This record gives sequence, C-alpha cells and structure tokens, in this order.
Amino acid sequence: VTSGTLQSVGLLARVLSARGIDRIAMEQPGFHIHRALLRRCGLTVVPVPVDGDGIVVERLERSGARAVLVTPAHQMPLGAVLAPDRRAALLDWAERHDALVIEDDYDGEYRYDHQPVGALQGLDPDRVIYAGTVSKTLAPALRLGWLVLPQRLLEPTLQAKELLAAEPSAIEQLTMAELMQSGAYDRHVRRTRLRYRRRRDLLLSMLAEHAPALTLRGIAAGLHVAVDLPPDVAEHDVVARAAAAGLRLNSLAPFWHDPTDRPGGLTIGYAAPPDHAYAQTLVVLAAALTQASDQTRFGRAVSTR
Ligand SMILES: Cc1ncc(COP(=O)(O)O)c(C=O)c1O
Repeated sequence: VTSGTLQSVGLLARVLSARGIDRIAMEQPGFHIHRALLRRCGLTVVPVPVDGDGIVVERLERSGARAVLVTPAHQMPLGAVLAPDRRAALLDWAERHDALVIEDDYDGEYRYDHQPVGALQGLDPDRVIYAGTVSKTLAPALRLGWLVLPQRLLEPTLQAKELLAAEPSAIEQLTMAELMQSGAYDRHVRRTRLRYRRRRDLLLSMLAEHAPALTLRGIAAGLHVAVDLPPDVAEHDVVARAAAAGLRLNSLAPFWHDPTDRPGGLTIGYAAPPDHAYAQTLVVLAAALTQASDQTRFGRAVSTR
C-alpha cells in the first residue's frame, strides 16, 4: 500500500536503479508528472509513440530500455485501449529483454462501453507491476494507492518505502479495507460510474451539436476526453477564453516530450464541476470552443445565456 501512484512510481524508480536499469520507456504523449518524477529519480526517459491501439511496441525494440511505464486500459492522455496483439507483443518484448512493465491503472474502474479490459498484470505477474490508486474513485487528496509486484521485487520495494518513511495513514488504510470488505467501495464505484457516464454523454452531445468538427478521443472510459484541434485554431486562445470564463482546460502540450513539434489538442475533464453547475459549465465550454479564431471550424456558435 502506497500514498498513490506517484509515490509508487517514485519507489519503483529507486528499485529499478538499484537493479542497474537506468532507461525507462514511456508513452508519447504520456503523463508528464511521471516523466518528471522518473527523471528526477535519475532515470533516462525514452519516448515511444502511441497510436489508436496504444503504445507502438515495435518502437520499443530500439529504445534500449529495460522497463516501460504504460496506461493500457485508457492511455493517458489520448485514451486508447492497448489492443490484444499489442498486449501480447509488449509481454513478448519484456520477456526477450528481461524487462519490466509498469501498468498504471489510474482510471480503469470507469469504463462505459461493455468490453471489460483486463489487467495486463494478470497475463504475466512475473514481469508486470500493477499500480492502482483511489485518486479517481474517491479523491486524490486521500493519497492512497497500491502496487501488485512480482515476488522478487517485493522486499526491495518495501525497503525503499521504509527508507522514505512513507507509510500512508493506518487509519485511512483501515477505513479503505472496511469499505472494500463491506462492499461499499464496489457500490460507490458502480454508482459513480453511472454518474460519470451521464456527464460524459451530456458532454458528447453538446460537442456533437456545437463543435461537430472536433475529433474526440478516449471517450469510452475515464474522466476526461482528449480533443484534436484543427491546425489553424490556436490552442492557447481556447484555453485562455475558457480560463476567462472560469473554466480550466488543459493543453496537451505538457504531455509531449518535445511540445514544439506536435498537433494541437486539449483534455476536457468532466468529473470536477458540481452537479448543479454541470449544465452551465457545458455552455461555457461550448462558448470557449466556438468563439475560437475561426468559428466555422467547429460548427455553430452558442449563446452563453
Ligand atoms: C496517468 C495517471 N496516473 C496516475 C494518476 C494518479 O496518481 P496518484 O495516485 O498519485 O494521485 C493520475 C492522476 O491524474 C494520472 O493521470
């Protein structure tokens, strides 16, 4: 049990270094906080591209890495599910290179289509490290997560954790255990899955009506969608306009290793606004998108009233 996935990744970075692994591959675009953390822990992070089927495994061959950090259930940020043949290829790569795979399952509880995506870890528990968290299901402020480790990595990881004196609160661990054992956690996840699904559906119908030209990605799961912007629409204009109306949109820039050479895009998170403000938030969002420099690119403008 850890204080969330970031701590899990920090601990694993130390464990990998101690085993002589100093290069780790990551999805490109990928979660920038992990990238910064791994670098701060002294590892070289090698970007490997993703496409609609997740990480392009053949590009791992040339990476020289002996570990990879992936988000196979819902790629962060573009939302692809790692395709079955890619899953097999990734595990095959790990076996041939005696490498480790870190599976960051940050929002796997929230899948809205009817195709369950199993954990990679179950397919090769000796090579895949599973990292779970309650940051999406309960609250990031709780700082509670977990690792499922190959037996040989258990002791070194526990030692790294001990060195950091990084034990999450026992009271919160016991409360979490009670929630799980009583079935309350499961009920909560099922209830919130419905709630987020409704929010996602409202967001998608608003975008379909007011910004039909946008390409959306990763809509089948999670708490955000990624949006491709047409080349002639300035991402910072959309972000600034939304910010002026009190709405934070995230540019995809930080997710790229080299943000100067990338397509424009945004992530739109739909979990944060309170229920009573959600409909109005969508109106503000539609206005921020449709008042972009070339309105016709997205579709028709909406009134903020
Ligand atoms: C890709 C990814 N991994 C993990 C996390 C959660 O990390 P933590 O458990 O440290 O809050 C997030 C949260 O935004 C995330 O986007």
